[in-house]
Amino acid sequence: MTWGNGVLYVIVCASGAAGDVGRLVRLARDEGWTVQIVATPPALDFIDVPALERQTGRPVRSRYRRPDEPKPPRADAIIVAPATFNTINKFALGIADTYALGLLAEAPGLGIPVVVLPFVNDALASRAPFRRSVESLRAEGVSILAGQGRSGPPAAHDRAGDPEDRPWARALDALGRLRREAPGEVAGS
Ligand SMILES: Cc1cc2nc3c(=O)[nH]c(=O)nc-3n(C[C@H](O)[C@H](O)[C@H](O)COP(=O)(O)O)c2cc1C
Repeated sequence: MTWGNGVLYVIVCASGAAGDVGRLVRLARDEGWTVQIVATPPALDFIDVPALERQTGRPVRSRYRRPDEPKPPRADAIIVAPATFNTINKFALGIADTYALGLLAEAPGLGIPVVVLPFVNDALASRAPFRRSVESLRAEGVSILAGQGRSGPPAAHDRAGDPEDRPWARALDALGRLRREAPGEVAGS
């Protein structure tokens, strides 16, 4: 199904899985999205920046723009993948000390759909702060998928695709569900 054609921000955190985010970029572009990669500062060590820039045709961003730099296009949707323990907890608390977190801090208030694909091990996922973060973000309409390694419904893309694409495809499927449930909804209106 092609219903993209907007600007999708993919926020990449410092997880070992970040090296595979090109799979998500390919799937998203196949759906018609323009993809803007935003990396947390530590995620820059985990990704191939030139390869992602070639794939998206856009610079990878990891810091706030300088005041004299032009404003980048607004996101129509955001996927945080892979999402770390650290970034999920900071997002829930409203901390905006990196560009990635600044975008996330505003997104629910702007009505921008956000899907989070956690890559968090069981020890961290069992912690009370993490469980509280997931609960409070869900209460604000953020879609938090089951962590990797846990069972979930098969993604629509699984039917014909590469099994390695599965987690990334699940994030796009969740975004499609969010948009169908609340098309054009602006939080708080
Ligand atoms: C090789 C390596 C792999 C990591 N993978 C993960 C991971 O999958 N999930 C996670 O929550 N943290 C992981 N970490 C820890 C994060 O990189 C660390 O908490 C970092 O501060 C997260 O920063 P960010 O949330 O700003 O991207 C990993 C660290 C290393 C060195």
